[in-house]
Amino acid sequence: MSESVYPVPEAWARRARVTEEGYEQLHGRSLADPGSFWLEQARRLDWVKRPELAGDWSFDEADFHISWFADGKLNVAANCVDRHLASRGDQIAILWEPDEPSEEPRRYTYRQLHAEVCRFANVLKAQGVAKGDRVTIYMPMIPEAAFAVLACARIGAVHSVVFGGFSPEALAGRIVDCDSSVVITADEGRRGGKKVPLKANVDMAAAHAPSLETVIVVQATGGAVEMKAGRDLWYHEAAETVAGDCPAEPMAAEDPLFILYTSGSTGKPKGVLHSSAGYLLWASYTHELVFDYRPAEIYWCAADIGWVTGHSYIVYGPLANGATTLMFEGVPNWPDASRIWQVVDRHKVEILYTAPTALRSLMREGDSYVSATSRASLRLLGSVGEPINPEAWRWYHDVVGEGRCPIVDTWWQTETGGMLISPLPGATQLKPGSATRPLPGVDPQIVDADGKVLTGPTEGNLCIARSWPGQMRTVWGDHERFFQTYFTTYPGKYFTGDGCRRDEDGYYWITGRVDDVINVSGHRMGTAEVESALVLHPKVAEAAVVGMPHDIKGQGIYAYVTLNANCVADEDLRQELRNWVRKEIGPIATPDALQFAPGLPKTRSGKIMRRILRKIAENDVGSLGDTSTLADPSVVDDLVKNRVG
Ligand code: WT7
Repeated sequence: MSESVYPVPEAWARRARVTEEGYEQLHGRSLADPGSFWLEQARRLDWVKRPELAGDWSFDEADFHISWFADGKLNVAANCVDRHLASRGDQIAILWEPDEPSEEPRRYTYRQLHAEVCRFANVLKAQGVAKGDRVTIYMPMIPEAAFAVLACARIGAVHSVVFGGFSPEALAGRIVDCDSSVVITADEGRRGGKKVPLKANVDMAAAHAPSLETVIVVQATGGAVEMKAGRDLWYHEAAETVAGDCPAEPMAAEDPLFILYTSGSTGKPKGVLHSSAGYLLWASYTHELVFDYRPAEIYWCAADIGWVTGHSYIVYGPLANGATTLMFEGVPNWPDASRIWQVVDRHKVEILYTAPTALRSLMREGDSYVSATSRASLRLLGSVGEPINPEAWRWYHDVVGEGRCPIVDTWWQTETGGMLISPLPGATQLKPGSATRPLPGVDPQIVDADGKVLTGPTEGNLCIARSWPGQMRTVWGDHERFFQTYFTTYPGKYFTGDGCRRDEDGYYWITGRVDDVINVSGHRMGTAEVESALVLHPKVAEAAVVGMPHDIKGQGIYAYVTLNANCVADEDLRQELRNWVRKEIGPIATPDALQFAPGLPKTRSGKIMRRILRKIAENDVGSLGDTSTLADPSVVDDLVKNRVG
């Protein structure tokens, strides 16, 4: 296969921390002597007690455990804020760009950030929040979201950020699962000129979340909300009554830092739990290495704090590295498709990290929205969330970056805490569509269906053979599920759920999920979750959900629905069911296509043959394969005939 290769630009090679020759050596050393490699890396953090232990782990069932730097003590918030005060107290830490472009940006220096975080922490303490308690954060993209996260870290509370686009039902489920008694929210959020009724959503969620005792409300828009006496308080009022200083709680390295819910192939979303020291080390190390980051460079990760990308690469990684991190309240295509590039120009952004789905939606609008802006400040571009198709890659490289900025296509997952496979801008020749090579400490293996390790150029299932500091430590409340989900498919290895090809240069090409998880606009959706939402509807007997190709979203959601007897399948019901899922989970889960199916293709033992449903959704009906083992092969004809979209 002839692929285009983009060499390391001269300017990047010159300033690189890690050079082309240096990479192999660094990666080799990290695997040959992980103990000393990671203890050396641990020096990048400020410890209350420096660790003498590095990784201690086993992926085997008999002795399953994962820990890093176990004898160390530190505070994550102190690492992200306090330790910069002496050297860069007056540097901008958080640069906030509002939804509405005519409004003034807000800027917080590290000194101001310190004051805000201390105050927020004291408000939490005054509400009785103590070390180890779970705090749910349901916030828009405003600086207070970062203050809240860091305030939890400062006092050792475990935060669980729930994306502001999730429904009251989804929010309630997450509050209940981690038994959280405090929610931090805002009156309303704003996105693309529209209001999001966050506080009203919390009120609705509260009806299904008996553990909830306290709701702290940040005034963001000034919109009217109901305040329930004895439960709800305004943040700005509470903040006036507390002291301005708050000591940072010394935490054990393995104490939990946060929970973040993510979808899997079965059951309800899992609470992915991350540790304090290992996680922070990984976020900080990868942010520095992959962006070749130097303190004070203007850096923008255009994700939402509700996803892991926002945790690791808006808040923890950049702040640990003394960055100026830009936080954007809005959306890429409002007021128009120039917004991202205008923000880049307004703040002289040097490093931009965004998702392929955003690029595809902007690319569609034509180059004029880009060329109307300067973008002269940009030096490096990043991509995350899903495979980037070569067409979008080239547009990003040639049109946005005008050929001068390398693209780091970073592969990772909520579970991994940070990037695992990614180019280094000064060390890696790029191939559009490939996440290229593993970062130091990362030992990827491609295995076949039987778990046999494949060598050389090959294709199969992507596993990681050894632990790295940023690895998740458990599923909140269900350690057995953690083991079962990730370590039993291929015993002794962490299974990512992704398919992958490795080429003759040892470059990795992620081919997408191989389980029942779909990737919608870079967000993970479990097909089982959408199915559960559908069958809750009184007219639905059965549902099967698969992914389908989608020009902008990467994958869209295709739902097959069997109705109860005497229910009429019409356009109104189709719309009603789509809205139903939207209400149950949130807008990102809305089916793009919904087909009424009198029957689903099942084997004689009653198992739905999803392979067939996927093929029909993809409109690849010529290759349905063997359907003879179906209980009723004739259902397939109906499905093909009534395909939608
Ligand atoms: C899944 C993880 C990574 C943080 C945001 C998403 C897919 C992610 C890439 C990439 C190809 C990618 C994988 C992965 N994915 N980045 N650069 N190239 N695929 O986190 O919601 O936990 O989803 O996203 O399929 O397993 P997530």
